[in-house]
Amino acid sequence: MKILVTGGLGFIGSHTVVELQNEGFEVIAIDNLSNSSIDVLDGIERITGKKPLFENIDLRDKLAVQNFFSKYLDISGVIHFAASKAVGESVENPLLYYENNINSLVYLLQELQKKPEAHFIFSSSCTVYGQAEKMPITENAPIQSAMSPYGNTKQIGEEIITDVAKVTNINSILLRYFNPIGAHPSAEIGELPLGVPQNLVPFITQTAFGLREKLSVFGNDYPTPDGTAIRDYIHVVDLAKAHVIALQRLLNKQNLEKVETFNLGTGTGSSVLEVITAFEKVANQKLNYQIVGRREGDVIEAYANTDKANTVLGWKAQSTLEEALASAWKWEMKIRNK
Ligand code: UD1
Repeated sequence: MKILVTGGLGFIGSHTVVELQNEGFEVIAIDNLSNSSIDVLDGIERITGKKPLFENIDLRDKLAVQNFFSKYLDISGVIHFAASKAVGESVENPLLYYENNINSLVYLLQELQKKPEAHFIFSSSCTVYGQAEKMPITENAPIQSAMSPYGNTKQIGEEIITDVAKVTNINSILLRYFNPIGAHPSAEIGELPLGVPQNLVPFITQTAFGLREKLSVFGNDYPTPDGTAIRDYIHVVDLAKAHVIALQRLLNKQNLEKVETFNLGTGTGSSVLEVITAFEKVANQKLNYQIVGRREGDVIEAYANTDKANTVLGWKAQSTLEEALASAWKWEMKIRNK
């Protein structure tokens, strides 16, 4: 079966391509290489023995999307990762985010609605919950008004898919990720942040490698046990596997509704200081860090209730925080020592 993975050379996309190929799916990856490298195809080949088909397409180009679907008529499912994801950049340039994250989604759905039946997996985020009142966060927690255009594109994306499902044969699963980290254990693929990393783990690994002087810990006056903010860090390989299981659920018609939503996290919250301590243990070195003020827009804590993903989807994260951090560190050393 042929599966289209948009953003297939990106961080989560590339790991999902690997898991799909491991399960025997034929993958076509689309990417515009705006935040990824063509070399990722070689990494995927070294892990799986096979290069996916690849098309360099920008999904904002409606004609290119139409041409793609007339070329590949036999696509059984779509996993849609292609999107911009930097919160700060989205505040600076909201229209870039609305165009890139929303137009591309609309153009894809326009093509899929022409088919007798379609299966669609959407990359969403725990950011839709904002600061949830109750921990751990269930899928029924209320959606809060978005704190950034980026977050808003995820909410709007979910709404578009839900509206479209009512009048088409598109069956969808919305996957709300908590904090994806790590790399493939082979260190053949991993995260490739452009410029100064905004996310915690790539900043830690770059600091440990000596590319950054020190990590700034954003706030230690939160109402948490050690004062630093709490997140649910999930290994990207676990996350990738969840996409394959979600896709199989749609292909086997096991979904109970036209649109289903699942949280993808480990269910365990870790503070920034706990992440640093765990990293120091696996990397066997001290990390240079300092406490600074809070970062605007950060929530105090967010970790998943994973019951629905565990019981309904039949997926559970397997890796520990230490394993995820060790894989991120192995990847950092591999790319820097090349
Ligand atoms: C962020 C986005 C989220 C998005 C995700 C995608 C915000 C508010 N949220 O999640 O919407 O889906 O990235 O990649 O930006 N931290 C430090 N020092 C650093 C970097 C981070 O202390 O240099 C702390 C943060 O304050 C936070 C934790 O580490 O408490 C995790 O931060 P990060 O990795 O950026 O993820 P989120 O902010 O949770």
